[in-house]
Amino acid sequence: MSRHRFHSMCPYFAMFPEAFARAWIERLTKPGEVVFDPFAGRGTAPFEALLLGRVGIGGDINPVAACLNRAKLAAPQASSVLRRLNRLEDDYQHRRWMRAASTTSEFFQAAYHRRTLAQLLYLRESLDWRARRTDAMVSALILGGLHGEVSSMRYLSNQMPRTISTKPDYSVRFWTERSLEAPERDAFDMLRQALSFRYASPVPDAAGETIFGDIRDVPRKWRREAPKLIITSPPYRAVTSYEEDQWLRLWFLGGPDRPNKSRITRDDRHIKADDYWNFIGDFWRVSSAILAPRGHVVMRVGATGISPKHLEQQLRASVLLSPRKATIRSVEHSEIGRRQTDAFRPGSRGCVWEIDMHVTLA
Ligand SMILES: C[S@@+](CC[C@H](N)C(=O)[O-])C[C@H]1O[C@@H](n2cnc3c(N)ncnc32)[C@H](O)[C@@H]1O
Repeated sequence: MSRHRFHSMCPYFAMFPEAFARAWIERLTKPGEVVFDPFAGRGTAPFEALLLGRVGIGGDINPVAACLNRAKLAAPQASSVLRRLNRLEDDYQHRRWMRAASTTSEFFQAAYHRRTLAQLLYLRESLDWRARRTDAMVSALILGGLHGEVSSMRYLSNQMPRTISTKPDYSVRFWTERSLEAPERDAFDMLRQALSFRYASPVPDAAGETIFGDIRDVPRKWRREAPKLIITSPPYRAVTSYEEDQWLRLWFLGGPDRPNKSRITRDDRHIKADDYWNFIGDFWRVSSAILAPRGHVVMRVGATGISPKHLEQQLRASVLLSPRKATIRSVEHSEIGRRQTDAFRPGSRGCVWEIDMHVTLA
């Protein structure tokens, strides 16, 4: 099966490789059954489920993840997206948005060429990704091109990593010291190119669903048949704050113009062990509430600051927090080959291994 081009629409820290999701979905479910990822991130598992003829449902509390899941799991036809894009371009008032661009902070003025920034400000205000499927797709395509290597036409920004957004002061210092200037890129052209590239893969026939919000609210919101498989990776222990590291993408979706921590979720980066394992306990309670009888849970977890052996012990012990009888079927350790942090913090000590655990609930 060749790689569907929606998968890589926007990078996401600690994203699943598609092959990992595919192998478990094929092994543990049949076509038509429901597959759910409550910490879906860029939506790898639910989208792969859709491609395999299952019902793919993705949940996440972060608006970036919710927008990506919505775009992939309920993708409009390319012709509708193109119509919407043309309409947006026709309605664009250049002078008005150039004035708005001139009042932004030092970071934004150095991160984007003034013309690009004016278009981004306009698109940020005009797109309604929560309510319109076409707008979710246009927003997701922008999120994928919002920052990255300056040498590639696919990205709109001055030099930045693709996966995370660097902090404003650090970024401005970095660009000033190296005399780096933002390239002049047309956001509408970039969008049309991204659209034709992504839609070279066919839109899946069926649509899935996105549950935007805290995992603890999922049982109250669940409307579908019980999932046969929950396949997920919760935030890794003491590794990253998605909210802080994705601040620029969150800004584009209507968030504040500076990084924040713990406003969207307190669960991104637990340093204290007790808090982390209470959170994983919530995961087991939610899974027990919604999973089909004799259903499967597959989870991939990493951590910093503790040994793989210790994490495995804690992970095994956490299963006892499941209100339903849980049986551990397998536990596997793997090393992370090319860490995503290498792109922006080469040589830093981060999460270098992961544990996969397969459990069934009676
Ligand atoms: C390790 S990432 C998942 C990456 C995903 N496997 C992928 O392929 O992209 C963990 C996700 O958990 C989400 N998250 C954090 N706290 C949450 C909460 N309380 N409820 C739901 N999602 C949460 C984060 O926003 C993040 O997207």
